[in-house]
Amino acid sequence: MRLSLATPADAPAMASAHAQAFDRPWDEMDFEDLLDGEGVFAFLVADEDPAGVLVCRAVAGEAEILTVGVAPWARRRGVARALMTAAIGAARAAGAADLFLEVDVDNAPAVTLYEALGFRRSGLRKGYYDRGPNGRADALVMRLDLTASAL
Ligand SMILES: CC(C)(COP(=O)(O)OP(=O)(O)OC[C@H]1O[C@@H](n2cnc3c(N)ncnc32)[C@H](O)[C@@H]1OP(=O)(O)O)[C@@H](O)C(=O)NCCC(=O)NCCS
Repeated sequence: MRLSLATPADAPAMASAHAQAFDRPWDEMDFEDLLDGEGVFAFLVADEDPAGVLVCRAVAGEAEILTVGVAPWARRRGVARALMTAAIGAARAAGAADLFLEVDVDNAPAVTLYEALGFRRSGLRKGYYDRGPNGRADALVMRLDLTASAL
């Protein structure tokens, strides 16, 4: 597994990993624009092919995971855990005290991952996700205290 801090040149690989992980993928331009944003950084895992991507923003003492996804063929090998651990370290180094994320309440793999990393449930956003014909789903807001986390 090769994990690296992503640069704009990695936008095609980031978009490829994202498209494998999500039904509604972000394109290359989305990743280029994101990386231009204040306090935004990203990590990519790629061997032969792009396997996983994470984007995080750390501004004014608070950080947020904007996306994290792993291609189906690369799952359950610690890719997301490695991406999240890198983001936790980078967010803390950027001066953030808390790291937040939102996750679909029904996304058991992701919720399990975040709880294993020390994130705690801190709120609920009703009807946050649009599931098209399947209606709307609630988002859990989760928080990791970076001043207490050992990661
Ligand atoms: C959620 C996701 C990022 C996990 O990626 P991954 O690389 O497979 O996760 P890891 O191998 O690093 O797993 C780390 C831990 O997370 C938990 N976990 C991951 N996938 C799980 C699953 N399918 N079921 C239960 N627990 C799971 C386990 O605790 C796991 O540790 P273990 O393998 O030692 O049991 C991946 O399934 C994915 O991309 N899903 C689609 C996109 C998505 O939902 N992203 C998150 C949006 S908020």
